[in-house]
Amino acid sequence: MKIGIIVHSMTGNTSLVAERLKNRLEKEDHEVFMERLKIIGGEDKNQQDANKIGIEPLETPLEEMDLLIFGGPVRGFQASPAIKALLGKVEGLEGKDTMIFVTHAFPFNWMGGNSSIKQMKSICTDKGANILFTGIIDWKNSKREMQIDSLVGSITRKTSGIAL
Ligand SMILES: Cc1cc2nc3c(=O)[nH]c(=O)nc-3n(C[C@H](O)[C@H](O)[C@H](O)COP(=O)(O)O)c2cc1C
Repeated sequence: MKIGIIVHSMTGNTSLVAERLKNRLEKEDHEVFMERLKIIGGEDKNQQDANKIGIEPLETPLEEMDLLIFGGPVRGFQASPAIKALLGKVEGLEGKDTMIFVTHAFPFNWMGGNSSIKQMKSICTDKGANILFTGIIDWKNSKREMQIDSLVGSITRKTSGIAL
C-alpha cells in the first residue's frame, strides 16, 4: 500500500523514528513517502501559536495514500504548533486510515505526551479520519530503543490488517 509519513521535527528525534518506520515498512513492500515539514521563514521554537505558522505545501500527494502517519514533538505540554498548523489545514482526511505518534523529553506521558496525542487525534477525527494507532516515544528513557522498536512493530502489524 501507499503510506505517507509526515512529521514535524526540529532536532531530528521525530524524523529518526519516521526513518526507522519507513525502512521497516519498505521491507514489507509498502511504498512509503516520508516528508519533514518545512516552516515558512524557518522555525521559531518559541512560537506556540499554530495560526502564526505557515507550512510550505507538501510534496506528498496525500489523497493517493492508503494510510497517513503524522508525527511531531511535544512543545510546552502540547502538540507542536507546526503539526497542529498542518493538521488544521490538511484536506482529504475523511475516511482516511491514519496513525499518530509523538516524541517528547520529559519522563512521564502526562507531561505533554498524552495531551499532544489527544490534540492531534481530535483534529484528525473532527476531519473524519479513522485513527488506527497512537504512540509516544520518551526520548530520554533508557528503554527508548525498545519503545521505538515496539512502535515500529505495532504499526507494521497494523498495516497488514488494513483491507484495501
Ligand atoms: C520549545 C520546546 C518545548 C518543549 N516542551 C516539551 C514538553 O512540554 N514536554 C516534553 O516532554 N518535552 C518537551 N520538549 C522536548 C521535545 O519534545 C523532544 O526533545 C522531542 O523529541 C523533540 O523532537 P524533534 O527532535 O523531532 O524536534 C520541548 C522542546 C522544545 C524545543
